[in-house]
Amino acid sequence: MEIYEEGKARIKFNSQSFLNPKAQLSRDLSVAFVKYKTKINPKATVIDTTSATGIRGIRYYKEGGAKEICMLEINNSAFKDLKGNMNYNKMNKDSNVRYYNTSIQEFANSSVRESFDIIDLDPFGSAAPNLTDIMKLARDKSSLMITATDVAVLCGAHYKACLKTYFAQPLHNALCHEVGIRILLGYIARIASLFNFGIEPEISISYLHYVRLFLKLDHGAAAAVKNYESIGYALYCKACGNFALNSPIPHSLNCNVCGHEYSIAGPLWVGRIQDKTVINGVKEVMSQDKVKNDEMTFMSNLSSELDTPLYYSIPALTKMMNVESVSYDRLKEELQSQGHSISKTHMNKESIKTDAGISEVKAAILKVLKSRNMIN
Ligand SMILES: C[S@@+](CC[C@H](N)C(=O)[O-])C[C@H]1O[C@@H](n2cnc3c(N)ncnc32)[C@H](O)[C@@H]1O
Ligand SMILES: [Zn+2]
Repeated sequence: MEIYEEGKARIKFNSQSFLNPKAQLSRDLSVAFVKYKTKINPKATVIDTTSATGIRGIRYYKEGGAKEICMLEINNSAFKDLKGNMNYNKMNKDSNVRYYNTSIQEFANSSVRESFDIIDLDPFGSAAPNLTDIMKLARDKSSLMITATDVAVLCGAHYKACLKTYFAQPLHNALCHEVGIRILLGYIARIASLFNFGIEPEISISYLHYVRLFLKLDHGAAAAVKNYESIGYALYCKACGNFALNSPIPHSLNCNVCGHEYSIAGPLWVGRIQDKTVINGVKEVMSQDKVKNDEMTFMSNLSSELDTPLYYSIPALTKMMNVESVSYDRLKEELQSQGHSISKTHMNKESIKTDAGISEVKAAILKVLKSRNMIN
């Protein structure tokens, strides 16, 4: 039996597979998100649908300010750990704490229909098979926190698996992380629509081996129909590096810069994927709670990241242009002097987000190189 401490949770567990210390950022961020939401709604109830050892549920209750916590775990051995941890964390006799050795499916389809303000789904692999049942646990303004670890599928390393699971074509290049996030959001939007929910993505993270999405649901037919307006395609030109997000169907399948045929990904979510008010609110909570420095750095980067569609990979572009690479700082200086905004992206460390088009980015790269040669 191993012991692991994180935040206010003390966890005893048998199997390493049910508790991954590398997911601490995901948990710290989720605890802060719950805390941010419970400050707005102090009566917020939370369900941790894939509890494993119970670590998230314990933290949402003890640190996040959840009024009630419900935890589900299908696996008998993990549930044994969870039950032990309820004792260990002195939560077993609290009437606001419930835990069941059952599946999401069984719980969501039982005769007593329950709904929650905040719903956590953190499965192994794809979130897709559980989304329908997750929606049955939601109500107007519920928040969803959803993990996917099938990043290779969403990123196009397993093309057919992406077609089969998400009914979407992936893009297997540097853009794949944001395209993958958008494919998953597009899929969530479609399932949400079936239950008359519109989705509003608030935080979208691609980190290490997983994607973690935080979003809000709005109930009503109009909100659900609105999802459709944010469904479209990502277009990428491998001849010149141009890209676009198009909703709903591209007018032309040829690049509007060089005329080459686009590679197409989707259908996917083309709407906003970050909400800076929520990101900054959650960052503030994390700062007050004195999370680790590298987590604060991650949140600061996320907070300053532009929410422009997709990003330019500097190494891919300079390779395509057959020129030397340029530093982020010099490119930033050059693009800013042209009146453009620019930021890094947490999704790909050698890429930039900017409101400049491909021709402007390439011209800026050439200008940086020219000034460098003039100096040398
Ligand atoms: C990745 S682990 C969760 C890890 C945990 N959230 C954490 O942060 O340490 C996924 C857990 O979900 C459970 N699980 C998988 N499918 C489930 C289902 N349909 N209903 C309930 N639990 C499920 C698995 O047994 C496993 O314990
Ligand atoms: Zn092109």
